[in-house]
Amino acid sequence: MRLLVTGGCGFIGSAVVRRVLRTTDWTVVVLDKLTYAAEPRALEETAADPRYRLVVGDVADAELLARLFAEYRPDAVLHLAAESHVDRSIDGPEAFLSTNVVGTFRLLEAALAHWRTLSEPDRSRFRFHHVSTDEVFGALDPEDAPFRETSPYDPRSPYAASKAAADHFVRAWFHTYGLPVLISNASNNYGPWQFPEKLIPLAIAKALEGQPIPLYGRGEQVRDWLFVDDHAAALLAILGRGRVGRTYLVGARAERTNLELVRTLCAILDELVPNSPHRPHARLIRFVADRPGHDRRYAIDPTRLEAELGWRPSRSLEEGLRATVAWYLAHRDWLAEMRARYDGRRLGLVRPAAAGAEPAAAGTGRTEPEGTER
Ligand code: NAD
Ligand code: DAU
Repeated sequence: MRLLVTGGCGFIGSAVVRRVLRTTDWTVVVLDKLTYAAEPRALEETAADPRYRLVVGDVADAELLARLFAEYRPDAVLHLAAESHVDRSIDGPEAFLSTNVVGTFRLLEAALAHWRTLSEPDRSRFRFHHVSTDEVFGALDPEDAPFRETSPYDPRSPYAASKAAADHFVRAWFHTYGLPVLISNASNNYGPWQFPEKLIPLAIAKALEGQPIPLYGRGEQVRDWLFVDDHAAALLAILGRGRVGRTYLVGARAERTNLELVRTLCAILDELVPNSPHRPHARLIRFVADRPGHDRRYAIDPTRLEAELGWRPSRSLEEGLRATVAWYLAHRDWLAEMRARYDGRRLGLVRPAAAGAEPAAAGTGRTEPEGTER
């Protein structure tokens, strides 16, 4: 099996590539533009493996794609390359269109041209697996049932709109041209190697630095958390045994408000860093101005994935968070380096303290006068 993984140097892509090389005899070529979010060191353990190759390039580059498909002749494509951060999509949506929409379209075109050159049985075996998000379904109210494969599309952020558009293109290439596609929509991932602009690594980094931990609004939004290795396992199950043309929702039934989640992280840090001058870390939590159009709640019903493919998460959220905090503690230098690479204040990505906001945890009496850096 020859697998083409786009975005394989990203947070989820690198977890998938590590898993493939560890658990199968497949060869893997990664196509990645190496944007700010990429971390090739997450693939260091695979670098010496002759079955692995990295091609640096843009998924929207049609010429490069044609060459890559002709030379490598993949049996399957796992498409993860994307601009993935909602806040960035609000501040600058265009890159989301170029990569998430145009990039997916170009990849579909290249995959279709390649697929048409195949003869049976390779043609029936070929798969184009598009990795998407639950954000395409919009936001739930607290009493709503979780998203299912049949939930209507209702994207709210530029990021979600770009992923929704990509999903529609992928489905169109299945219905119109017969390309054997699979789509999966997953909830919020967490784990090692996540770029510290996303909530969990950002909160850990801020806590270790003794800096305010910014929570948008009142921290009441709900996310459904999925350990990245469990997502990688689900992707391989879907790629291997999913029914062509089908959508699978991936989630671990682990909903928490952002405030609950960050308090849990702080409690784990209190325990794992007993000599920290910043204990209790929860007193660093600050409410800041909300994200525009902030989706209230995401939640996934993974029944289809469980029933059809027998997938189950390997750990509880508490176990996963503990392992994740331990990983970031063991990689403090990496975290500091990434934080330096991502200077939110320099990039103008700063939210003011919420009007009338008091600290989220009692006892500090401190507020951020001019806004808290993301
Ligand atoms: P990430 O931002 O960590 O990594 C994205 C990777 O794609 C990076 O290595 C980057 O260099 C690469 N990339 C970006 N633009 C590219 C381009 N034009 N050409 C080639 N490569 C490019 O993202 P992630 O969190 O690992 O997410 C991976 C995929 O999973 C995305 O499609 C995302 O929408 C989806 N997803 C993410 C989550 C999550 O919680 N992180 C949840 C559900 C779905
Ligand atoms: O649901 C899946 C999606 O999860 C993926 O498709 C996206 O690629 C991924 O980035 C993630 O999107 P979110 O916007 O939910 O993730 P983020 O880590 O940015 O934020 C998680 C929650 O925490 C969200 O409600 C916003 C809030 N938040 C985030 C940051 C960065 C804060 O309160 N403070 C912050 O500083």
